[in-house]
Amino acid sequence: MAVPESLRQSLENAGQAHVLNLVNTLNDAKLALLIEQLEGLDLGAMQSLIDTYVKSAPQFEMPASTEPPTYYPADPNSSVRSYDAAKYISSGEDLLRAGKVACFTVAGGQGSRLGYDGPKGCFPAGAISGKPLFQIFAEGIKATGDKYGSVVPWLVMTSPQNHEATVAFFKDHNYFGLNADDVMFFPQGTMPSFDLETGRILMSDAYTLAASPDGHGGSLKALYTSGAIDAMKARGVEHISYFQVDNPLVRVADPLFLGLHATADDSSAQMSSKMLPKAYAEEKVGLFAKIDGRTQVVEYSDMPMELQRETNPDGSLKFLAGNPAVHAFSVDFVEKVNTDPAFSLPYHRAVKKIAHINTDTGEQVTPEEPNGVKLERFVFDALPFAEKSIILETSRVQEFAPIKNASGIDSAESSSKLQTERAASWLSANGVKVPTNSEGSPDCVLEICPATALDASDLRGKDLPSEIAPGQKLAL
Ligand code: UTP
Repeated sequence: MAVPESLRQSLENAGQAHVLNLVNTLNDAKLALLIEQLEGLDLGAMQSLIDTYVKSAPQFEMPASTEPPTYYPADPNSSVRSYDAAKYISSGEDLLRAGKVACFTVAGGQGSRLGYDGPKGCFPAGAISGKPLFQIFAEGIKATGDKYGSVVPWLVMTSPQNHEATVAFFKDHNYFGLNADDVMFFPQGTMPSFDLETGRILMSDAYTLAASPDGHGGSLKALYTSGAIDAMKARGVEHISYFQVDNPLVRVADPLFLGLHATADDSSAQMSSKMLPKAYAEEKVGLFAKIDGRTQVVEYSDMPMELQRETNPDGSLKFLAGNPAVHAFSVDFVEKVNTDPAFSLPYHRAVKKIAHINTDTGEQVTPEEPNGVKLERFVFDALPFAEKSIILETSRVQEFAPIKNASGIDSAESSSKLQTERAASWLSANGVKVPTNSEGSPDCVLEICPATALDASDLRGKDLPSEIAPGQKLAL
């Protein structure tokens, strides 16, 4: 077996011929693997990619026309903006009843901050039950289908690194009560890592490019190329409810959000978002903004701090809307962005320490300083391609308890507290007395299974205790 001449030539033209330096040391199977990876690269576009993102760092210039976006407040009677929530809940429920909604979990990330050995979706997240994240979502999806008398298919994006383990986990657990035909897995694409100084592709061994998943923005392409979009169209699915694998409190298919996304006058029903009000001006969270009439997310580091601190006459932050990474998009929108040549998501660069080999000698290099660039695409960069895009406010307690870190902020511990707080708010709304500590937080641990309730109103008429004892652990 030999490297095809055309490939060798393209690599030379792209300044990347060093990846073939050690081919003489490879057997046919390894060489075939290397050729497959190299043939998957867009070598024609590589030089400009390297010039733009590796050898320089693109600077975002925030246009002077940047304004805070309008949004639908969580309280439909708010003075910020009032709206007929019942009408939109009803249109969202109609979509669910008609089987026009699929759920979509992006689970291809590397989860390096959590440091869990296995796909992040297998991480035990239930505050009391220790149920894995995937199980919590599966129960929410099943409960939604049962509630509306329909099937809600579930798309799970994996990465080449965690695909097999993810699929095996579902099989081993009988798909957590879902029908196997209603769960579709597909791996996302990868991007090679580049040497920071030279822009050369790094190799992790003589036949493997150092590569990583291409970001959650890669999901838009993977949905299309995997055949998931065709499969959803064949089932009559029109809208996709998008969420991350790390948030056990997410509403997997929220009728209000789906109804606003699909039918509000100020939505083009293409791509919509939930927002989380910033807790304080300096909070490091991507912010929704309106630029030239289109909704966008601006990274916190790209927005001047004076602007982030600006307030309205009532003291609230002008740029309030943080991004919790919950979206809805239409199947048509995903098709459009994959077929319209004008659509291309930018890359975001991360400078990291990347272990690799010296391609002249084959020796392992373990860098002590950041030496390489990883490139990722972000899903929210698709927002400006939607003609009109709505934003619905949600809250940390009701819907955002991500598990990203092993301890501290956004850890299993903080998530468990938020799960308890949400359950406490739902129980209190249904007349159950919940004990509190001196800080006003629930003095107990609570977990409500999605099969028991998808929202507070689902608890109505259920057999509930009249009160919770201090320190009690209660899973419902
Ligand atoms: P994060 O930005 O939290 O990244 O992903 P991560 O890879 O999970 O974790 P760290 O940064 O290495 O600690 C947010 C969501 O996007 C998904 C993740 O699985 C998570 O649901 N994601 C991220 C992908 O699906 N693919 C990617 O390439 C990156």
